[in-house]
Amino acid sequence: LNSVTEAVEAIRRGEVIIVVDAEDRENEGDFVCAAEKATPEVVNFMLSGRGQLCVSILPEVCKRLELQPIVANNDAPLKTAFMTPVDIRTARTGITAAEKSETILRMTVDSASAKEFVRPGHVYPLLAKQGGVLRRAGHTEAAVDLARMAGLKPAGVVCEVLDESGDRASRDGLASIAKKHNLKIISIEQLIAHRRVSEKLI
Ligand code: 5RP
Ligand code: CA
Ligand code: ZN
Ligand code: ZN
Repeated sequence: LNSVTEAVEAIRRGEVIIVVDAEDRENEGDFVCAAEKATPEVVNFMLSGRGQLCVSILPEVCKRLELQPIVANNDAPLKTAFMTPVDIRTARTGITAAEKSETILRMTVDSASAKEFVRPGHVYPLLAKQGGVLRRAGHTEAAVDLARMAGLKPAGVVCEVLDESGDRASRDGLASIAKKHNLKIISIEQLIAHRRVSEKLI
């Protein structure tokens, strides 16, 4: 694994990284980038993970864009907080990498408003807990924390990485993908530990 500092620097440069969660949690590796850096090329690459492309955002963004939880009672085991899926109103269908990029980039702009998006769309917002990975050890919070630590808008894009058989990519599989594409790879446990130390919480 790389260091958190290396990962944050990569996020700042607009690179995609791989973030793994705990083996006793999802045991998944997600491609992660800062939402502000989600160009069409970056989104196209992240879709090659073949998971569910989502954008992690904070409560204030959900409020501004009028995004509601997609179900009233979230009984998903890890309470992954899916909100109203949206497309940018100017999109033709919303499904392409370029259109998803446009949707995501617009969501990161402070002056963007609810009426600029159609619903339902193809970009799945996830509501991150304020407090990030110290509150919830999920990819949703890791993506927001990494973007914030990189000095960017606190919003990130995530997409799980599957292997050729369609299963969750293993740690070895993720390591070889990281090597092949020259991506940094870190764990959420590392991020939690890093934040505790750097914010003098221990
Ligand atoms: C959305 C998911 C992913 O696992 C994503 O990583 C967000 O979930 P979490 O924050 O629970 O890790 O289910 O595709
Ligand atoms: Ca999940
Ligand atoms: Zn996850
Ligand atoms: Zn997942």
